[in-house]
Amino acid sequence: MLTSRIILITGAAGGIGRATALAVARAGGAVFATDQSGAGAEATAAAVRKEGARAAAHTCNVADEKSVQAMVAAAVEEFGRIDGAFNNAGIEGAPDAAATLAEADFDRVMAVNVKGVWLSMKHELAHMLPRGQGVIVNTASIAGLVGTTGYAAYNASKHAVTGLTKSAAISYAARGVRVNAVCPGFIDTEMTGRIFADQAERKAGLLTRIAQGRFGAAEEIANAVVWMLSDAARYMNGHLLTVDGGYVAM
Ligand SMILES: NC(=O)c1ccc[n+]([C@@H]2O[C@H](COP(=O)([O-])OP(=O)(O)OC[C@H]3O[C@@H](n4cnc5c(N)ncnc54)[C@H](O)[C@@H]3O)[C@@H](O)[C@H]2O)c1
Repeated sequence: MLTSRIILITGAAGGIGRATALAVARAGGAVFATDQSGAGAEATAAAVRKEGARAAAHTCNVADEKSVQAMVAAAVEEFGRIDGAFNNAGIEGAPDAAATLAEADFDRVMAVNVKGVWLSMKHELAHMLPRGQGVIVNTASIAGLVGTTGYAAYNASKHAVTGLTKSAAISYAARGVRVNAVCPGFIDTEMTGRIFADQAERKAGLLTRIAQGRFGAAEEIANAVVWMLSDAARYMNGHLLTVDGGYVAM
């Protein structure tokens, strides 16, 4: 599905990012794995190479423009081009709702989740637009579609990702670049491990509100992202694809 495609992935050290790197490899693509954890990115690249695909790793903080610019330049230097990008790095931030959230927490979540996605798109687009082709998938969330109890900054940041996605999609559709977002539901990763640590009761209550009655696996998001990055989705643009076991539909 992605034969010979060069795919850049942010937040590739674990969870959804690493699962997507492996799914891209199985679909025939090459992976430029980036993360603020250089060791984590390298471990993902090694796992991709084990699948028989080409991979390279790079350390990048998506909240820093120079770092993002260097990431895109390094990917082009390594593989000659970028065909697709999965802007997936994100943090959950503090669990507070609006009345108790600290300014520093709000700024931190916005810097990574919103500015990070914008900066990644900005520099990927600078490479893709002159080529007249490219595909971008951003990681939003069901928290970009509906309200959450607490995690106000995260909730706001993911709604912002959906806006950035739609704006870029309609701005660049005529120039050959597609931009969409995946909206995962509750997925078993380190992030949800942190959120639900010591909260078995809260998690059990939540499961009754997921139609399929379970958290998703990172691979289940990765499979959707591979399809979104492929030509099979060539008429999909500005779309927010929910993959949530039926949570939002309930
Ligand atoms: N797990 C879920 O239930 C869920 C649901 C919806 C959306 N998401 C989103 O999916 C994405 C991946 O989440 P995950 O569950 O795999 O989490 P995770 O914590 O397992 O992975 C996130 C990765 O992003 C990296 N990262 C964090 N800040 C960074 C920065 N400034 N620069 C570069 N890399 C950075 C981390 O090092 C980590 O490897 C996030 O955007 C998250 O908000 C997750």
